[in-house]
Amino acid sequence: MIFMLSFMPYTSIGETPKEKADEIDQKVADLLSKMSLKDKVGEMTQLALDMISVGEPHNTKEPHQLDPAKLKKVFRDLRVGSIMNVSGHAYTREHWRDIMTNIQEIAMKEKGIPVLYGIDAIHGTNYTVDATLFPQQITLAASWNPSLAFSLGSITAYETRASCIPWTFSPVFDLGRDVRWSRLWETFGEDVFLVKKMGVSMVKGYQGDDLNNPYHVAACMKHFLGYSTPWTGKDRTPAYIPERQLKEYFVPTFQAAIDAGAATIMISSGEMNGIPVHANPKILKDLLRDEMGFEGLAVSDWEDILLLVSRHRVAKDHKEAIKMAVNAGIDMSMVPMNTEFPVLLKELVEEGEVPMERIDEAVSRILKLKFQLGLFENPFYNADKYPDFGSEKHATASFNTALECLTLLKNNDNILPLSKTGKVLVTGPTANSINALNGGWTGTWQGRNEQYNTKGKQTILEAIQAKLGKEQVTFVEGASELEAVNIQEAVEAAKKAEVAIVCLGEMPYTEKPGDRDDLYIPDAQRALVEAIVETGTPIVLVLAEGRPRLVSKFEEKVAGVLLAYLPGNEGGRAIAEVLFGDYNPNGKLPYTYPRFPHSILTYDHKGTDQIKTDFSYNAFNPQWEFGHGLSYTTFEYSDLNLSSKQLDAKGNLNVSVVVKNTGKMDGKEVVQLYITDKVATVTPSVKRLRGFEKVDLKAGESKTVEFSIRASNLAFVGIDNQWVTEEGEFEVNVGGLKGEFEY
Ligand code: BGC
Repeated sequence: MIFMLSFMPYTSIGETPKEKADEIDQKVADLLSKMSLKDKVGEMTQLALDMISVGEPHNTKEPHQLDPAKLKKVFRDLRVGSIMNVSGHAYTREHWRDIMTNIQEIAMKEKGIPVLYGIDAIHGTNYTVDATLFPQQITLAASWNPSLAFSLGSITAYETRASCIPWTFSPVFDLGRDVRWSRLWETFGEDVFLVKKMGVSMVKGYQGDDLNNPYHVAACMKHFLGYSTPWTGKDRTPAYIPERQLKEYFVPTFQAAIDAGAATIMISSGEMNGIPVHANPKILKDLLRDEMGFEGLAVSDWEDILLLVSRHRVAKDHKEAIKMAVNAGIDMSMVPMNTEFPVLLKELVEEGEVPMERIDEAVSRILKLKFQLGLFENPFYNADKYPDFGSEKHATASFNTALECLTLLKNNDNILPLSKTGKVLVTGPTANSINALNGGWTGTWQGRNEQYNTKGKQTILEAIQAKLGKEQVTFVEGASELEAVNIQEAVEAAKKAEVAIVCLGEMPYTEKPGDRDDLYIPDAQRALVEAIVETGTPIVLVLAEGRPRLVSKFEEKVAGVLLAYLPGNEGGRAIAEVLFGDYNPNGKLPYTYPRFPHSILTYDHKGTDQIKTDFSYNAFNPQWEFGHGLSYTTFEYSDLNLSSKQLDAKGNLNVSVVVKNTGKMDGKEVVQLYITDKVATVTPSVKRLRGFEKVDLKAGESKTVEFSIRASNLAFVGIDNQWVTEEGEFEVNVGGLKGEFEY
């Protein structure tokens, strides 16, 4: 059956948002009433592009081509509602336009319902050739500047729609509290407050005020819930998270995204406390829907319903797994490489194992999003109206973002900024690789294939050569990520240089392929550094890495350390700007950089922490602390002032502090406000970040920064697992200045 709908465009002038929403609800109800069960279960199915492409799944033919017979099967026979991602690698915009036109034409012809296409556009539209590639999320978090997350979101939305795609599987709202995890770099780091601020801005950038806008896309917060803290540190291994911790740390970031209107959510692949999240109605219904009030579409993660059988072993076969997951609250199955889902789900409904109301609820959410995105009116878009796709303007936005993220961790005797006139050696595995700057989900899933890199982007080496002139720069690779290449040659070159810029880190990865057994920087890279140390030439380390690879075995022997994280396509240029003093660094760590692999603790750990010996309560002795980051200028904090010594349930307490740039260079500073609850019924953290603001100060300039504290900023999840603000004394700490108040 084909659904012929007659309706007014819902963007009519003068309509209130409420009228618009009611109109969409009405359209959804009308359409739903005309759909058969087969249509409905098809809507709930999401297949990978491979399933409608020439060739075999996981091995489609090159160059990529849609397969007309498969298209017919998928849309006419299976009535599939959603398609996702790429067959292997990025495509040109033209190819995307052809794919989408083809898909939507056939879907409209066969079903009268447009397809909802989703893609991982996570640091820019990374599956479209020549799109603007931004720093990855962890890098962005280091800027502590939510407006940059907004700009990344809106430019990515623009370029994703320019590729005819209306839905991105981003941002990640998981907390990056375990630095061993291979997807740490896809998070905004370890702190709830910082993640909320950055994530909400990114969602707003993606979605704008109205999803039915050709320059915005639907966001997908992921991966709900508890995905980021696997017990082993390895991706997709079990997590054990007590209810109190879950509520206090892991839920609030998603709640903030829901409150900000995030349209969709992706469910965690993991199992938590022994129950796979995909089969847990307590999480997917009681918590997500009833408590948190989420009304949008919940999509499974890749193959996760099938994995209830093969990995988690809570279901005996695919059919039982589908029953569990759909009844638990999954609206759409990212199947995505098999066509059994709609067939088995239909049987389950007919057998009375899955109630029709559950199906109608799921399908309504999917249809609603399709209406909200304007897909019924215009399933194809006008791909020509995006003159800024991959433009210089967008590249500049990415460059400015990268600049604000780079974090200067160490600068002994002001070795940095470097002089532009001396000879430098550039060496190390990440020195001459754009891929090392971009990380995973770049052109391909693992981000290692250079074929899809944007032409003309500079590596760290190329950017330094452009700045100093080639004659001043010697490049010797020295070591690859895991093996020595020509360390002796690097040593000889170091002897002739004034400084050695040693670029270490990791080559791209994500998910399971990114699991590692050892957090220390690989031996070959360490050997390169130690060999150069012997020459006496000072060393500046540049770290391009998705997670903090430990440097404690040699850190004392280097003079400077600049952490680049994964700064994106413009990262090489940004690094050169900072190294040679054309930009004053102002990034701050969004996670705690550990010193030892067996001492991994977040900044907001518990315990007294008074004695830094082996016998201290929690042995918190990181390499660099959360929030740390140096500048080429100096900032002085003074005049910490609390508006009152007493805060009550209804009131506000204002905290102000004066920050002065006391150095010779203009610079930005992130003013961070921490609060310590001195005594509480549940052991309190040593401190919690409760506010921050980035200020831009000219040399000599000072500004007063103000924060407002309310009772809710002091709340925690108490002994009965409910949120509570307890009476007592609190300490405020801003830039080392302390104040006290009572609640
Ligand atoms: C990842 C998700 C991603 C999805 C679609 C999964 O393997 O966990 O983050 O959005 O694949 O590519």
